[in-house]
Amino acid sequence: MRDATYPQLWAAVRAARKAGRTLESVKPAADQFQVKHNGDIVTEADRTVEETILAELSGQFPVHTVVSEESAPEFTTKPRWIIDPIDGTTNFLNGIPHYSISIAFEGAGEPDVGIVYHVPSETMYTAIEGGGAYANGQPLSLSATTELSEALIVTGFDTASMQAQEYDHFRTILNVTQGVRRFGSAAGELAMVAAGQFDAFFERQLSVWDTAAGVKIVEEAGGEVTRIKALDGKNSEMVLASNEAIHQDLVALVSAGTVPKMDGQ
Ligand code: IPD
Ligand code: CA
Ligand code: CA
Repeated sequence: MRDATYPQLWAAVRAARKAGRTLESVKPAADQFQVKHNGDIVTEADRTVEETILAELSGQFPVHTVVSEESAPEFTTKPRWIIDPIDGTTNFLNGIPHYSISIAFEGAGEPDVGIVYHVPSETMYTAIEGGGAYANGQPLSLSATTELSEALIVTGFDTASMQAQEYDHFRTILNVTQGVRRFGSAAGELAMVAAGQFDAFFERQLSVWDTAAGVKIVEEAGGEVTRIKALDGKNSEMVLASNEAIHQDLVALVSAGTVPKMDGQ
């Protein structure tokens, strides 16, 4: 990463690496999880990783607010840390090598930071506001695709909450793009869009910890992000990320008639 001297970036990187080592020492077992009230699953590993990160950060920044998926409420006071200890728990549990640790810092006057550590590939994606985005120190840039018909899209969805009309809509998206993948770690996939591996990402009903760091990385790599607040009354939003050239077409295609617009467009 370019500016490892920025203390929040350095602390996030160090915390993620330490948490990543913790994860490597855990043997995932596909049947060892609990189901949370919202239907998501959680494992002992999620909690252990979260504790490791919080211990690392609070030692250095005791006064900062924390929003973390498994323990901390959604404080909005800045400066704040936003943490998803394992993004892709289902993959982790099943030994599928695609899961990430996501840590964002939202400053109050100081620049924002986002890091996504893709643990299986040991890829550290980093971004500081105004400073570009990097993967293991190499600068990132998005794809050069200019037509949606040539775009490879990555997405995620919750089949339990999908309505019939959303399946129809999904079929349309499949038909008018080059293809759609569903991998299971929103933070990791946002980073892959920043790296130009996918042309675009979208998903309905994401939480702030899924996206805070990945969005920062996409924006700093030169991409565009649109967030659309969900109508479900929960604190979730649809997030669409892509290069500039296809962004408005993507927003029009994916959000057509579904939810009201919130910001970024
Ligand atoms: C999930 C992953 C998945 C996305 C879900 C998220 P978790 O996070 O990001 O790709 O489709 O919406 O909840 O539960 O593994 O932290
Ligand atoms: Ca997540
Ligand atoms: Ca998680």
